[in-house]
Amino acid sequence: MTGSFWLPDGASTLSPDIDSLFYFVTWASIILFAGVAAAIVYLAYRYRRRPGAVPARVKPSKIVEISWVVLPTILVLVVFNWGFRLFIEQSVAPPNAYEIYARGAMWKWDFEYPTGTVSTNELHVPVDRPVRLVMSSEDVLHSFFVPAFRVKQDVLPDRYSSVWFEATRVDTFQVFCTEYCGAGHSIMLASVITHSQGDFEAWLASAGVDEDTPLPELGAQLYQQQACFACHSLDGTAVIGPSFAGLYGKTETLDDGSTALVDDDYLRESIVDPGAKIVEGYQNVMQPYAGLSDRELSALIAFIREQE
Ligand code: CUA
Repeated sequence: MTGSFWLPDGASTLSPDIDSLFYFVTWASIILFAGVAAAIVYLAYRYRRRPGAVPARVKPSKIVEISWVVLPTILVLVVFNWGFRLFIEQSVAPPNAYEIYARGAMWKWDFEYPTGTVSTNELHVPVDRPVRLVMSSEDVLHSFFVPAFRVKQDVLPDRYSSVWFEATRVDTFQVFCTEYCGAGHSIMLASVITHSQGDFEAWLASAGVDEDTPLPELGAQLYQQQACFACHSLDGTAVIGPSFAGLYGKTETLDDGSTALVDDDYLRESIVDPGAKIVEGYQNVMQPYAGLSDRELSALIAFIREQE
């Protein structure tokens, strides 16, 4: 299936069936609309008002009465049956599906694999194998949408939802959040990166943090991986949180009027317990990053210290 004006190129086992149904409904609607519109125009002209004309008395025809009830009913039942079977297929993952936990948060996606590896804003999956995502949200409603796979599912706090797909080719696909979740909604993007089975295992084995990376460099990687950039700029622009530019060593005014010196302890606290000190003019919206290791925290602080 290739892309069209209506749909992007499909890349999952479900997409050909979903596309067929979509095109059936689309073309049936277009044909019916054209037929009804043409009949209106023709009849309005054929029976236009003319001087001296008297309306004829029309006897109802049983055939016409029955057919305009029965034919649309059949059409609607065909679409219902087709759609319902696809809905079931899409809702129930095959029992051998590979399970990955997905967590949405303002404004990033975390994916946790059975090995314990976590990737942020990059979902790595094998092709030709069903993958089931077990999803939850750390804060508000989000929605996980991969147009190329034809799957979309809401992600909720305090409850699990799931979605499954089987990718059919090796490529990179766009993930969108499709539930308005605040100022960063439009940047809550991720990619699905599909690999052959062998490459996927190789990626899993090599994923994770390299212990030999120098701290500031590791911090720069984490800034990307943990999506800190979504809220903290490096060029001094105030986005959702304070910019990292020139942050270290500065004295911040907090929302209760007191002040705090930005040193290593302040930064560490702001990462693991962001609500403890809120800088004046900002909202308390950041999630605690309690899952970071000691080395990762030091790396992020080393990275922030370097931003002038
Ligand atoms: Cu998350 Cu919109």
